[in-house]
Amino acid sequence: MTDSSQNSLIQRLPKAELHLHIEGSFEPELMMQLAARNRIDLRFKTLDEAKAAYNFSNLQEFLDLYYEGMQVLRTEEDFHDLTWAYLQRAAQDNVRHVEMFFDPQAHTERGVPFGVVTEGILAALARGEKELGVTSYLILSFLRHLSEDDGFALLKESEGWHDRFVGVGLDSSEMGHPPLKFERLYKRCREMGFKLCMHAGEEGPPAYVREALIEIGVDRIDHGNRSMEDPALIQILKDTQTPLTNCPLSNLSLCVINDLKDSPVKAQLEAGLLVTVNSDDPAYFGGYIARNYEKTAEALGLSDAQLITLAHNSFTASFLPEAGKQKHLAAIDAAVA
Ligand code: HPA
Ligand code: ZN
Repeated sequence: MTDSSQNSLIQRLPKAELHLHIEGSFEPELMMQLAARNRIDLRFKTLDEAKAAYNFSNLQEFLDLYYEGMQVLRTEEDFHDLTWAYLQRAAQDNVRHVEMFFDPQAHTERGVPFGVVTEGILAALARGEKELGVTSYLILSFLRHLSEDDGFALLKESEGWHDRFVGVGLDSSEMGHPPLKFERLYKRCREMGFKLCMHAGEEGPPAYVREALIEIGVDRIDHGNRSMEDPALIQILKDTQTPLTNCPLSNLSLCVINDLKDSPVKAQLEAGLLVTVNSDDPAYFGGYIARNYEKTAEALGLSDAQLITLAHNSFTASFLPEAGKQKHLAAIDAAVA
C-alpha cells in the first residue's frame, strides 16, 4: 500500500484518544494570545523562539517548559479556549472520543482555583459533544513529584466535581517517584469508584510497571515502553489485556526512543498486547493523533490490518460502557468495509 492510501485509511478510521494532557495541547500561537489577553510576559516573543525551545533530551526538560507555558492560563475562558482548540483539531483527525488528563495541581499551586480550571474544561467538553459529536471523559491527574498528602488534598479540594471524572492519573517526573509512593491514595481512589491510570515505564524501569499493575492494580498503563525489557511482565500484560497507551512522537521527542523504528508498538501488537497510539502533548511533540499513526506506520511498516487493530484497541481500551464500545467498533468496520 502507498503511504498516501494508508494515510487516507488512518484519516477515515474513527479513533479514541486515551493519552492526552490538555495542557500539552497548548499551541504557541494560542499561548501568545492568552499571554497578551492576561497581560503576562512570556519568555518567548515570537513563534520561532517558542518552537526553537521545543527541543528536549529527556522528560524533565519537557516538563520544565510545559509548566512554564501553562502559567498564562488564568481564567475559565482560557481553559475553555485551550480545550476547545484541542477538540476541533482532534475532530479533524476523526477522533470520536477522548479521555483527557488535566493537571489541577499545576494551576492551584499558582493560585488558580480548582473550579476555574475544571469548569472551563468541562464547558468546552460539553460543547465538543454538542457541536462536534466528540464524547469525552476527564481524568484527574496527580503530579508525582509532589507528595501523597498533596494528592489527598487535591482529592478533597475536588470533592464537588467527583462525578465529573471517570478516573485518576499520575504524571510528571517519573524517576524517583515510583507508583508505591501513592499506594494509599490509589487505594482510596479505587474505593471511591475511580478508574486508575498511571504513567509507568516511560523513563522508569519495568519494576515501576509491575508496581502499578500488580501492587496498585491500575486499569491502564500510560506509556509502558520499558515493559518490553521484562518477558514475564509482557506475559502478564497479555493475559490481563491491560491497555498500554503508547505515544510514539512523544517517545521520540523525549528520547525514550532514538528513532521511530525503535517504537515498541509493532512488537506489542504482535505479542497480543492491548496497545493504543496517542499524542500525549501534541503541541510540543510535533503531531496530533493521525500523524502519530502515520509516522509509526511508516517507520515500522504497519499493515492496514494492524492500523485497524490500533483503532479497535483505542475503543476497547477506553472507559466507555460496553454498548458505547460496540457502537464505535461497528463504525470502524463500516469505515473500512
Ligand atoms: N510524562 C509524564 N508527565 C507528563 C507527560 C508525560 O509524557 N506529559 C505531561 N505530563
Ligand atoms: Zn503523558
